[in-house]
Amino acid sequence: MTPAAGSRTGAPSPAAAVPAIDLRGVAKHYPGSVGKAVHALGPLDLQITSGSFVAVVGPSGCGKSTLLRLVAGLEMPDDGTMSRYGTPLDAPSHEVGIVFQEHVLFPWNTVLENVLLPADVLALPKAAARERALRLLEMTGLAAFADHRPQMLSGGMRQRAALCRALLADPRLLLLDEPFGALDALTREELSLELSSLWQDLGRTALLITHDIEEAILLSDRVLVMSPRPGRIRADIAVDLPRPRNADTPRLPRFQELKQVVRDIIFDRPRT
Ligand SMILES: Nc1ncnc2c1ncn2[C@@H]1O[C@H](COP(=O)(O)OP(=O)(O)OP(=O)(O)O)[C@@H](O)[C@H]1O
Ligand SMILES: [Mg+2]
Repeated sequence: MTPAAGSRTGAPSPAAAVPAIDLRGVAKHYPGSVGKAVHALGPLDLQITSGSFVAVVGPSGCGKSTLLRLVAGLEMPDDGTMSRYGTPLDAPSHEVGIVFQEHVLFPWNTVLENVLLPADVLALPKAAARERALRLLEMTGLAAFADHRPQMLSGGMRQRAALCRALLADPRLLLLDEPFGALDALTREELSLELSSLWQDLGRTALLITHDIEEAILLSDRVLVMSPRPGRIRADIAVDLPRPRNADTPRLPRFQELKQVVRDIIFDRPRT
């Protein structure tokens, strides 16, 4: 993946002081099937520093996707307050790019047209959007496939295209819900490293939901471990591994230690 303009410079900007995400006492219930509400999430507090990469792991059904939909402004909590970059978070925003577990590309559109979809919705200037789309396709190794239909691409290539689409409007915040969940282990690791390098080049904030502990550690600055439903943040682990991360990072003794720490918390094993 080739580097992009606007790489991070190291010096924190004043804006970094305002958290990208600030949730206070947030809880969510859904109506249940027999009139009994399902308590899906919280109450929880969560602050995410601008420019950081945070991963969330936790058991199935604990409310991870619910958390992501709340942060995306796609759903509202029934308790607590939420803000995004210092502004009340009460609706979706073009400042947010989302990648879902399924790639959700339109089969009748080419890869380039799919990546350009947000340009129509957000009424972005056409020529600049096209230029950025082509640059993102270049960065993710898809330039030669711009005119192909999604069904002519592999699963990994489709997820790359979905990532390009999420990044088209240059969102300040990237939300990823199991983006590589449906892929084989090798493609998954390859794409994780590509995402890591892309995130570092673009200098944006990212929140990743994943079932994969190694993926969480490989990519993030912090791993949040959630409890079973109703999901609360059981642990917040700083990932003090050097960047840039690469294929050798998982071999570091510290990586293995962190993996064990996260596993012990998930499986509720006391540390000796
Ligand atoms: N739209 C909805 N209506 C009713 N209940 C819902 C809805 N969405 C989620 N739930 C319930 O909320 C709880 C949390 O669901 P959520 O999808 O957030 O879990 P998750 O941690 O993402 O699970 P997984 O790891 O399997 O994707 C579950 O019990 C689920 O049944
Ligand atoms: Mg989910």
